[in-house]
Amino acid sequence: LNVSIIGVPMDHGQMRRGVDMGPSAIRYAGVVDRIENLGHAVNDEGDIHIRKADGKVDENTNLRNMDVITEATETLGEAVSGVAKAGNFPLVLGGDHSIAIGTLAGISEHYENLGVIWYDAHADMNTSETSPSGNIHGMPLAASFGHGHEKLTKIRGYSPKVKPENIVIIGARSVDPGERELIKEHGIKVFSMHEIDKMGMDHVMQESIRYLREERKTDGVHLSLDLDGIDPMYTPGVGTPVPGGISYRESHLAMEMLFDAGLITSAEFVEVNPILDEKNRTADVAVALIGSLLGEKLV
Ligand code: ARG
Ligand code: MN
Ligand code: MN
Ligand code: MN
Repeated sequence: LNVSIIGVPMDHGQMRRGVDMGPSAIRYAGVVDRIENLGHAVNDEGDIHIRKADGKVDENTNLRNMDVITEATETLGEAVSGVAKAGNFPLVLGGDHSIAIGTLAGISEHYENLGVIWYDAHADMNTSETSPSGNIHGMPLAASFGHGHEKLTKIRGYSPKVKPENIVIIGARSVDPGERELIKEHGIKVFSMHEIDKMGMDHVMQESIRYLREERKTDGVHLSLDLDGIDPMYTPGVGTPVPGGISYRESHLAMEMLFDAGLITSAEFVEVNPILDEKNRTADVAVALIGSLLGEKLV
């Protein structure tokens, strides 16, 4: 593979400062060497510029830092689209999860029938109407299948980016009432912690891969991995930790199975917040999982 890294030092999608340093933390944890050691070529394209924001919620839209985020996701979409167009593998480093709006905007235009795996404690399917916080990091998945304010759904001028039936959520354990309704209404495939506990990660991944490949016949699959999907005992450096998460080993197994299936065509790792972390552990986990996703095996 030719992997192109794009950093997005964004922290305006939520209210805890420090997640803008996520891309640096992941670089310091050795992401470039880790990928190069697997025999891939890596091009680190550096960071997208993120403007300052005032933290205010727009009273008409209930969106916090709306203009800065729409601007940044447009810029990111452009950069990601360029990487995909060149035939390279986009690897986006966050930054809070609002950036997924831009990543998907840039990727989806290169596929007819994109699939998305959303590895997260949350569904991130609030809209400006249902959001309890106005925090855009709780909205990117809804926006990507066309739900929410136009400011978020129409990045790069088209909507939706993904069909709801092409989405698989893995690891959910904190879902708001409005999100639950959207999941039901659209029959979105969710493997919550209940299914992971009950069937095991091996089965969950086999089923996710079969579903996206055979049933939905996707021609590309984006992995959006929020580090809070993993249990906070392994990844304490996240802004919205939820106990009872996916284990370190289960997460490696999931990444290894995705590599073996050859399913993933782009990825992003988000919500690493070094201020809340212990000795960069969360970035270390991100890098280890990136390794497994791109082919690292013990033997
Ligand atoms: N559901 C909550 C909200 O809408 C939390 C979202 C957390 N999202 C995340 N990407 N960590 O505000
Ligand atoms: Mn989350
Ligand atoms: Mn709909
Ligand atoms: Mn998330």
